[in-house]
Amino acid sequence: MRFDSAFLDELRDRVPISDVIGKRVAWDKRKTNVSRGDWWACCPFHGEKTPSFHCEDRKGRYHCFGCGVSGDHFRFLTELDGLSFPEAVRYVADMAGVALPAPDPRAAQREKERATLIDVLEMATRFFQDRLQASDGAKARAYLRDRGLSGRTIETFRLGYAPDGRNILKEFLASKGAEKQQIEACGLVVHGPDIAVSYDRFRDRIMFPILSARERVIAYGGRAMSADIPAKYINSNETELFHKGRVLYNLARARRAVQGADGAGTVVAVEGYMDVIALHQAGIENAVAPLGTALTEDQLELLWRATPEPVLCFDGDDAGTRAAYRAVDLALAGLRPGRSVRFALLPQGKDPDDLVREEGRAPFDAVLKAARPLADMVWMRETASGVFDTPEKRAALEAAFGKVTAVIGDETVRRHYAQDMRDRLAAFLDSNRPTGGTYGKGGGFQGGDRRRQAAGRGAKADRRIAMTNLLARSTMVRGQSELPTPRESMLALTVINHPELLIAEFDEVSAIEFENRQLAILLEQLLDLCAGGASPDREAALQHLSGGGHEDFIARLKQQIRYTRDWTASEEAAFEDAREGFIQALALYKRGRALKQQKNELERDIAEATESGDGEAVPKLMQSLQSVQMEYNRLERQEAIVEGFGVLSGRVRGAAGK
Ligand code: UTP
Ligand code: MN
Repeated sequence: MRFDSAFLDELRDRVPISDVIGKRVAWDKRKTNVSRGDWWACCPFHGEKTPSFHCEDRKGRYHCFGCGVSGDHFRFLTELDGLSFPEAVRYVADMAGVALPAPDPRAAQREKERATLIDVLEMATRFFQDRLQASDGAKARAYLRDRGLSGRTIETFRLGYAPDGRNILKEFLASKGAEKQQIEACGLVVHGPDIAVSYDRFRDRIMFPILSARERVIAYGGRAMSADIPAKYINSNETELFHKGRVLYNLARARRAVQGADGAGTVVAVEGYMDVIALHQAGIENAVAPLGTALTEDQLELLWRATPEPVLCFDGDDAGTRAAYRAVDLALAGLRPGRSVRFALLPQGKDPDDLVREEGRAPFDAVLKAARPLADMVWMRETASGVFDTPEKRAALEAAFGKVTAVIGDETVRRHYAQDMRDRLAAFLDSNRPTGGTYGKGGGFQGGDRRRQAAGRGAKADRRIAMTNLLARSTMVRGQSELPTPRESMLALTVINHPELLIAEFDEVSAIEFENRQLAILLEQLLDLCAGGASPDREAALQHLSGGGHEDFIARLKQQIRYTRDWTASEEAAFEDAREGFIQALALYKRGRALKQQKNELERDIAEATESGDGEAVPKLMQSLQSVQMEYNRLERQEAIVEGFGVLSGRVRGAAGK
């Protein structure tokens, strides 16, 4: 029903907004100033430990400085409690003791129609669920079982089966008293001026009900069960209730999961229905999916209302990267202080469903953990295109960053982005100046034939060069995660691909203590291999390791350093290059470990000094800590660059893509 604005204003005036909100939050006594009508609490939308959620009775508005939500009485109730707007109005009117105005008959009529559509859709959902359990649902049940879904999951997502016939659903609904016009209006039949007799839209498909924010079924996705059906998935068409660009599959449940997680969680957007469902079954209940289109502005807005920093998950292939880059623009435009997105890239050729099916949630958790901030993606996108070997090209790069940051609507965020990009640019151009040789593709390089051939594979490899920097940045301090740091991966892969190192650099190799456990084990096994004094070759090394079940892991290591400049780790590298790269990387690695240790000690000292009341020592210690941290960061970005292969030289090795 519609309300006129004078009536809504009256309600806002009569009921202090703190009365509405106070039913859902505990006010912070220290920060709140009751007499001024100035209230503070921990934000109920994003969960936090110190209060940054604020409302002012005089203005009748709330705002969270942490996650950026804001609104009035009604917004609060619709957003937090999922009330419809009319319900929120009724609620506040009750608080005010004011009667609702007489309803506008036309609006009332429309609302009634919507309600009946909801009823029809609910009937259809039950019908599909029943048919899945009936005899003609056997094939569908087998299909779902093959895909690893449990009965409970099927129940939770209310999956169903639309039988194979032109009128089965239509007739069922009619027999239950639904009118022709209603059946058509809820998107379940194909109809139109040039279609004489309408017919069931979904035939012989698995049905995925799509729910509204209030968890009513408003549409469906339907999946064909065999590969030879032209459309793998079809959706309901747009209806009064369903606008596919404004809905996210599983949003209501994901929101609940995030709130349940005590504010620790976030919402993750993946690509498909099955991904959401498989993740749920694996215990990750905070995933949502758009409905077969790229993420829209409205959908991103929905995500932001659920959580300040949603994670957008994309395939690791080219198409996925392109999609991620498109999402970058969308996100930039909508940024606010404290509100951003992160990007998680999947291993190539695997969707989340594939990832969790065999090994459970761990591999996907690792992907999430490695998610990168938006600023990284911006950097990656703009530098992905080429080599910056002339002042003009560098200028163009700088200009490109100017353009990107201009897209950001919020002024404060824009300023910080501009600064961040300037810093990165400076560091990039600085740290990547070639140590020897020339700038520019292939010029004057004296190398073996193999290298020269590799140099010919221009564009693709250039892209990798620029990406490297990003990867190096994004992986600082990732010691605990399942994947090793790129530096550890690089060292290990060099040894795996060039086992001669086990002999040639035995002392160095055997002294390495990898932080990553699996790498440590792997190295142990490699060392075993040459314990008898034999000089192992690559074949033998790999075979030895495959006995230890490391194949997948090694594949992932390769994947991980695929985009880095660590070409010397690859099997294509000549042994002497591999050795040189290894020695350099090892030196950086050791320095990094030493710095980390220093950092730990300093942190302990600071804690002790603070506790023992020796406050004077703290600032100095903090300063040292900062400089250690800075050096560590610098180091992490630095690469082992083997002479003649400086990054801007454009000379490329064939290794990276293999
Ligand atoms: P995918 O083709 O990646 O399928 O489509 P999927 O999610 O891996 O599905 P399974 O595992 O093969 O069952 C991703 C999403 O794109 C939409 C659907 O929403 C799907 O979940 N889509 C896909 C369509 O709308 N139509 C199609 O023909 C294919
Ligand atoms: Mn899939």
